[in-house]
This record gives sequence, structure tokens and C-alpha cells, in this order.
Amino acid sequence: MANILIIGAGGVGSVVAHKCAEAAKKTGVFEKITLAARTLSRCEKAAQNVQARLGVSVGTARVNANNMQDLYSLIHAVKADIVCNVALPYQNLHIMDACLACGAHYIDTANYEPEDTAKFEYKWQWKYAGRFRKAGLTSLLGSGFDPGVTNVFAAWVMKHKLDEVHVLDIIDCNDGDHGRPFATNFNPEINIREVTARGRYWERGEWVKTDPLAWSMEYDFPDGIGRKKCFLLYHEELESLVTHLQGLRRARFWMTFSENYLNHLKVLGNVGMTGTTPVRFEGRDIVPVRFLAALLPDPASLGPVTRGKTCIGNLMRGLKDGQEKNVYIYNTCDHEACFAEVGAQAVSYTTGVPAMIGTKLIAEGTWRRPGVWNMEQFDPDPFMHDLATYGLPWQCVDAA
Ligand SMILES: NC(=O)c1ccc[n+]([C@@H]2O[C@H](COP(=O)([O-])OP(=O)(O)OC[C@H]3O[C@@H](n4cnc5c(N)ncnc54)[C@H](OP(=O)(O)O)[C@@H]3O)[C@@H](O)[C@H]2O)c1
Repeated sequence: MANILIIGAGGVGSVVAHKCAEAAKKTGVFEKITLAARTLSRCEKAAQNVQARLGVSVGTARVNANNMQDLYSLIHAVKADIVCNVALPYQNLHIMDACLACGAHYIDTANYEPEDTAKFEYKWQWKYAGRFRKAGLTSLLGSGFDPGVTNVFAAWVMKHKLDEVHVLDIIDCNDGDHGRPFATNFNPEINIREVTARGRYWERGEWVKTDPLAWSMEYDFPDGIGRKKCFLLYHEELESLVTHLQGLRRARFWMTFSENYLNHLKVLGNVGMTGTTPVRFEGRDIVPVRFLAALLPDPASLGPVTRGKTCIGNLMRGLKDGQEKNVYIYNTCDHEACFAEVGAQAVSYTTGVPAMIGTKLIAEGTWRRPGVWNMEQFDPDPFMHDLATYGLPWQCVDAA
């Protein structure tokens, strides 16, 4: 029985709290759940929802994860065995340091990114491997959907469907409509930094760079979604997958965007509103993308108004018994069904469920191994089993 501290009470944090409560009821794996962020009222609102829906009590606390003393005091006070970090990627290293100092396991859903540069890489977190190993603690990186489930999908296909993989395309479709002129489905600052960065894919042992949103393709999604235009982006799971999947010749990541989203983004970019460099305005420094984020709808507020589905999966080509084989492994998730179940839209849901499952597998000891790990480095089977149990059933089909 583990004592878990969730840091971050946005769209994702609220789903993690719900799903931990569900797992606590089903299996007793979590003895105590605490939800913390800087704004206590958001934690309290989420905790009240969990109590009302599941009858499970979630403790709340205020914490500024940029402040080490704050983190130490809270982890000690709640006696956390595992810290699930679903705040912003800027806080990852602080929270990892605090876990090491307090003897807690660590898990997150997005890799570290310095606040002043839109650049994410695993190198900063991979450097902690020796310290986590020495401390006998597990650090599990990127346990959301993408990264997260997409990594586990890749590992599962390699275990059960292919002997060799040559080509990997991760394709993320959000066919949801929130009816707002412009909004992002998760933290606006992180989302816009990701989408406006240069694209990058891996081919024959090298990274190839593309201009932002310069490459696109059409993909025919299942479950009634149909053909959608997808754009090549750089996404963090590519870095770990090309490191851990032997034999890969090409790895790419694609995401769908509506014309409306792209038009808004283009105009905002043209006028400098997506910039990350501070601008002096009326005597103070303002980071344009952060100011923009303050104007945009809170992703958590999109839950009640979002209709449609998400569909995220891996298209993988390789060899099985000497024959060429293509497989497509995916999950489809309905925004309205997620809202009915936990009060959040599908992007928060598809991130929060795997964050809970990673935490649960560490708590149970199934995925507990001292060091710093990416998701594809563990046995995928228990994770895949829990995905189906906790709301994200998946399909694997032969593809053309
Ligand atoms: N892997 C995936 O598939 C995937 C998909 C979507 C999102 N994500 C990641 O999930 C995370 C959460 O996303 P979200 O949509 O829930 O974001 P969000 O709605 O903006 O929520 C972020 C939460 O973090 C808290 N926070 C921010 N700075 C903090 C600090 N210094 N100390 C303590 N708490 C802090 C915020 O509350 P206060 O401001 O009140 O502190 C808020 O509760 C992000 O890192 C995002 O990149 C991963």
C-alpha cells in the first residue's frame, strides 16, 4: 500500500487523482492520496469531485515546486512513497532532486524543458540515473499517452507482433471540437512551444530537421473519425525510442490540427505572441507566450464543451518470421464519455490514466527498479492490461 503525492492539479492532475482513487478502491494499492499545486482551491475542487463520484478522500496541499524547501516539507509531511509530477516540465528536476532527498520514487508525463528555451531533451533527466540507482529509487519518465502509452505500444508490438522493427510512425489525432475560437487541450504554453518548434525525425541514424509544420500527410483514422491531415512534429518519445528500439531505420511523429487552429497560430506567431523571449512592456518583462496563455481558456474548462474523439497510435513496419508485416496499435477515446466519468476532456484523461498506471506499477513493485527509465524499458504486459481495465482499451490490427 503506497502513499502518493500528485503535484499539479490542472486537467491532468485531476484525472490522476480520480484514477488513483479508483485503483485504491479496486485493489487497495494506494493508502493515501494527496493533490498539491500552488492554487489550493483547484486541488480542493478536484478532491471534492473525487469524493462525490467515488467516495474516496483525497488530501490537498499548497506547494510551489520551484521552491526546494516547499517540496521537502511537503514530501516529508505527507510521507510520500511516490511523487507523481503532473505540474509543468520546468519543475521536473526540482521534483527529482526533492524525491532523492526524501527517499520517494518519481514519475512524470513530459520531459524537462528549461523555462527560458523551448527545447526539450531527456539528457538532463537521464543524468540522474546513477543517483536514483544509488538511492534504490525508481524514476519513470513520460508516463502519459504520448510519451507514455506510445512507448509501451512499441514495446508490446516488439514483444508480441514483430521480430524486427524498421519504421515507426506515431500518429496523434484529436478530432474533438470545443467550439471556442482558439484553445489548447493541455497547458497552452507547453502546447504552443511544442507546435511552433522545428520538426525533427530520425532516419538512418541521424536527426533530420524540418521547418515548423512544413510536412504533412493524410491518415484514415478508425472508429468513424476518417481521413485527417497530420503534421510532422518533433516529439520527445522519439529520442528514447530510437535509443531503445534496435533496428529502427525511420521514426516520425505526426499530429492532426484543424485549419482554424493553424490559422490562429500563424497570426499569433506573425505578431510575436508565441515568442518565449521576454519583451519589455511598461516597465516590466513579459514573455509573450505566457501572456497569451493567460488569455486563453483554461484547458480544464474545455471538458464540458468538447465533443468528438481522440485516436493515438503507432504504425509499425518490420519483419515477423522473415515476412514483412505492418501493424497499427491504437486507442480511441471519446471526450464526452471522459467528461461524464471524471469531469475532464479526453486529452487530460488519456494522460492522467497512464500516469496513474505507471504510479500503480511502481507501488506494486511490478515496475520498480532503481534508476531512471523510459516506459519501453519495462515489460509492457502489465501496463497494457491496466490500460484496458482503467478506461483506455486498445486495438492492434494488421495494417496495409
Ligand atoms: N505525455 C502526454 O501525453 C501529455 C499530454 C498532455 C499533457 N502532458 C503534461 O501534463 C502536465 C500537466 O498538463 P495540464 O494540461 O494538466 O496542465 P495545466 O492544466 O496547466 O495544469 C498544470 C498544473 O501544474 C500546477 N503548477 C504549475 N506550476 C507549478 C509550480 N511551480 N508548483 C506547483 N504546481 C505548479 C498548476 O497549478 P498552479 O499554477 O496553481 O500551481 C496546475 O495545477 C504538463 O506537464 C503537460 O506537458 C503530457
